[in-house]
Amino acid sequence: MKVLVTGAAGFIASHLCEALLTTGHEVVGIDNFDPFYPIESKKENLELLHQHKGFSFTEGDLSDAPFVEKFLTYHPVDLVIHLAAKAGVRPSLEDPIGYVNANITATVSLLEGMRKNGIKKFIFASSSSIYGESKTVPFKEDTSFDHSISLYATTKQSGELFTRMYHNLYKLDVINLRFFTVYGPRQRPDLAIHKFLKSNLLDETITIFGDGSMARDYTYVSDTVQGIIGAMNRIVENPNVYETYNLGNSHPVSLKELILAIEKTTGKPLIIQRTDVPLGDVPITYADISSSKEKLGYHPQVSLESGLAEFYKWIQKKYS
Ligand SMILES: NC(=O)c1ccc[n+]([C@@H]2O[C@H](COP(=O)([O-])OP(=O)(O)OC[C@H]3O[C@@H](n4cnc5c(N)ncnc54)[C@H](O)[C@@H]3O)[C@@H](O)[C@H]2O)c1
Repeated sequence: MKVLVTGAAGFIASHLCEALLTTGHEVVGIDNFDPFYPIESKKENLELLHQHKGFSFTEGDLSDAPFVEKFLTYHPVDLVIHLAAKAGVRPSLEDPIGYVNANITATVSLLEGMRKNGIKKFIFASSSSIYGESKTVPFKEDTSFDHSISLYATTKQSGELFTRMYHNLYKLDVINLRFFTVYGPRQRPDLAIHKFLKSNLLDETITIFGDGSMARDYTYVSDTVQGIIGAMNRIVENPNVYETYNLGNSHPVSLKELILAIEKTTGKPLIIQRTDVPLGDVPITYADISSSKEKLGYHPQVSLESGLAEFYKWIQKKYS
């Protein structure tokens, strides 16, 4: 298949592209090198992808609707996997308009470009953050959108509402995938595990929020990629589909437990300072993955222990 992967230079998308390329798909990537984190890291990700002959890349901003429409006219792909976004809860409160442009305007220009070019299949990267402060755990896909506490989460909810509308009105086939704190090599440097492993290596102090009880359903990136490929198989085999799935690990880990696991991995204690929980951070994420297991054949394989060990090898190579 010929697949457009948006945000191809980013963390999850670059792993996805590699998996698609090694299984013989042709991959067309777009990214605008958003300066949210160093562009050099994104260029390194792309260098790995350019080693595959089925890969091509265009630098471009998806919120530019005329560019997207023209791009899709010249690249008649079978499927779009939309991972480009400004990710991250805390920075979204500082830059609401930037997040609306990157996450909502870009999504709608992609959907419009697909409609105008007769491209019918769309997989959308949504987020566990849309569950917000929902007290009912584990989170099931049919939970209401009433508990959102961050601008980022609201942009992802909007994305899901737009995909619903394009399905209802224009018969676009859609699978929304809600990722849960994905980690592993090339993870964004703003995320906790990356920061903690790096600081531990360099003997720097980490800041932790609250009393350490905050919990996340950490998911290793190869498991997330396996779930995306499951969704890709499903959307190809099932016309007229509109579905939403959690891709988590279904095993929340508290900050306290994460710290112990990191210290065990590195063999060194972390230097810790504490501060209050920032606005927008939810107390827990916890995925119910019964539907994604059944319908996507999604079975997360990587334990926190082995995921951290793999990730730490990469951190040592990058920062030593
Ligand atoms: N990493 C996680 O834990 C996590 C959790 C839930 C959801 N997600 C979602 O998964 C997707 C990938 O996340 P990631 O962690 O790999 O982030 P990332 O920042 O590494 O990758 C996103 C990429 O999108 C690009 N991009 C941003 N705006 C763009 C635009 N307007 N046009 C073109 N490209 C643009 C960025 O330059 C970046 O390379 C995002 O949609 C994110 O919201 C990630």
